[in-house]
Amino acid sequence: MSTPRPLIAGNWKMNGLAAALDEARAVAAALEERPAGARVAVCPPATLIDRLAEAVAGSAVLVGGQDCRAEAAGAFTGDVAAEMLAEAGARLVILGHSERRAGYGETDAVVAAKVEGALRAGLEPIICVGETLAERQAGRALEVVTAQVRGSAPAALAGRDFAIAYEPVWAIGSGLTPSIEQIEEVHVAVRAVLVEMFGATGAASPILYGGSVKPTNAAEILSAREVGGALVGGASLKAADFLPIIVAA
Ligand code: 13P
Repeated sequence: MSTPRPLIAGNWKMNGLAAALDEARAVAAALEERPAGARVAVCPPATLIDRLAEAVAGSAVLVGGQDCRAEAAGAFTGDVAAEMLAEAGARLVILGHSERRAGYGETDAVVAAKVEGALRAGLEPIICVGETLAERQAGRALEVVTAQVRGSAPAALAGRDFAIAYEPVWAIGSGLTPSIEQIEEVHVAVRAVLVEMFGATGAASPILYGGSVKPTNAAEILSAREVGGALVGGASLKAADFLPIIVAA
């Protein structure tokens, strides 16, 4: 089986007013000039998805959401359905980010239902998993992460495009990163679970690393075993930081 192209996705989190569209335009223009080996996605706040999709239309930049509700419609004040993201121009959606698991009590079962919603709408889910510092220090990182993969990845993913993002909670926004050995250990374990669960699909789905990815550490992280891309937070907000990470893939 051929190795799929790596995926470099930027998660803007709750950052970005209209002026931020210029950063996405700059990424799109740079990729036009110098096409990347990686697939590239930008996941802005929901309010910017349609304008960002318009701003990068015809370029290599894909647009993603940061969350969705499992249901297609209904009385769920404040929530957004996968169908709405897709209609606004999203092709992917981040699900189960640790900030949502921790801040909104999203369980693996909730995340799995959202993944099914994303697939129903034709979106490619990026399913986030990762251990806390306490879990790592207790020697439970592999157990926690593989259990999250099993619980958050529904059977419906077989034959579909999706990615897993391993984001150690303690590495997010902290400037700390695991050692390459620690990253590889988790990614290899996740790969084994994916193959067991989904066969050929599980062998081909990219496993992204996320957590304090920067221009200075991207090349080393992206060349690690079973690392098929990156989910980038802070460093995705400026084209000048995001582009070198894209080029490193
Ligand atoms: P940082 O790159 O800012 O550490 O954030 C990582 C992340 O949470 C991406 O989803």
